[in-house]
Amino acid sequence: MGRLIIVSNRVPSPRERLQPAGGLTVGLRDAVRGNESLWFGWSGATTDERDDDPLPSLDVVEGVTYATIDLTARQLEGFYQNFSNGLLWPLCHYRVGLMTYRRSDWETYLEVNALFARVLVEQLQPDDVIWVHDYHLFPLGQALRDLGVTNRIGFFLHIPCPPWSLMRSLPGADLLLRDMEAYDLVGVQTQEDVENMNQSFSLCGIAARAQAFAIGIDPIEFHRQAIASADTPAVRRLVESLHGRTLILGVDRLDYSKGLPERFAGFEAFLERFPQYRGKVTFLQIAPVSRGDVPEYQALRRQLDEQVGRINGVHASYDWTPVRYMTSPVPRDTLAGFYREADIALITPLRDGMNLVAKEYVAAQDPDDPGMLILSHFAGAAPEMMDAVLVNPFDPDEIADALALAMEATRDERIARFTPLDVEVRRSTASVWARDFLKALKAGLDD
Ligand code: ADP
Ligand code: F6P
Repeated sequence: MGRLIIVSNRVPSPRERLQPAGGLTVGLRDAVRGNESLWFGWSGATTDERDDDPLPSLDVVEGVTYATIDLTARQLEGFYQNFSNGLLWPLCHYRVGLMTYRRSDWETYLEVNALFARVLVEQLQPDDVIWVHDYHLFPLGQALRDLGVTNRIGFFLHIPCPPWSLMRSLPGADLLLRDMEAYDLVGVQTQEDVENMNQSFSLCGIAARAQAFAIGIDPIEFHRQAIASADTPAVRRLVESLHGRTLILGVDRLDYSKGLPERFAGFEAFLERFPQYRGKVTFLQIAPVSRGDVPEYQALRRQLDEQVGRINGVHASYDWTPVRYMTSPVPRDTLAGFYREADIALITPLRDGMNLVAKEYVAAQDPDDPGMLILSHFAGAAPEMMDAVLVNPFDPDEIADALALAMEATRDERIARFTPLDVEVRRSTASVWARDFLKALKAGLDD
């Protein structure tokens, strides 16, 4: 049985290696457990320009070897900030107007993928199975094949895949997609992503096919964490500060794909159209700063500062602030406790690969007295979560109506919506996702 080699731009931090945080880390922890594994990627640090390929720094934790390399400041800018996050991210989230294309960035993106391949190839053994993650590394499989690697290689895209009519806005999109032929298996989150990717493959005459594998969380562990956090100082202080008001909660990286200005507009429409709830609700939005060196993220932050200030200026009274907005991260266990206390989760991305926050919110609930999940149609999680209150985030009045519906729901109505959501979140876990993908990738290997 060969090792599992995971490759992703971001590798779990030393702390996460002991205590996995996000869905990817949790799902892969189960996959690597009991197997000899290696996880390769960027260290998170930069270094000076160099002539030779770096040697990876190696760290072994619980049987998993973490192998990381630094990137130079120039590589980080062209590969990560500009091409991955200034071009591929908006393109894949259907925001072609936000794309910035520079040929030199594409060259740096290819350069870093080739570097990853050259460093990784030195670590490989003949039976290793390689699993490459996300849009930073589309060309990695081909770069490995160019070096003579014949191992099984799978690829999983964590973000949406747009239709060819949008994808082709990227000059040379067909070249990027052609590299997918190097993979033995291409996985995406939803059926819609499968259709879009396969449409692009067909139209470009590319001999690859995508399959859907929806990522999940570890619901049992998250539920346990939410209960354990309920009696911690942070969660108690939040509850006391509400003075009995209904808590509406949003949790997202500060990213334009998450629909934060639209969400605040929806909350404002709710205050205006349902004045009976003024002074009775608190909307807490936790939005830690992400990719702060990318100009579009800086502009969004300024926009939100202005918008929240204005909403509170107009609607607050001397003893009530409608919106609490914070851009610092909250520890994961505290977050689980906040989810459990929240009466309503307002999760309204304009486009999202999956959205694990929606699944975490469900897992954190008390099944006998659950909260209400308001979810965008455009989250990858929506097809699995049709019992949530689904909204079109582009319409503030639809968000306002959903908030009013959630405020008025009886306990029986809340339970009726929650129960099927809970069943689904417990069925489609992170470990099921990793197991199914790896099973399909390895199919035929042991024959
Ligand atoms: P994305 O991958 O685009 O960030 P997801 O919703 O799929 O979106 O995953 C986000 C992950 O990051 C979740 O596990 C969530 O709990 C975590 N997270 C999001 N916001 C915060 C925050 N403010 N503090 C701590 N963790 C957060
Ligand atoms: O979900 C997409 C994703 O890029 C993940 O791969 C990543 O862990 C997360 O968003 C945070 O982004 P970044 O690594 O750019 O901070």
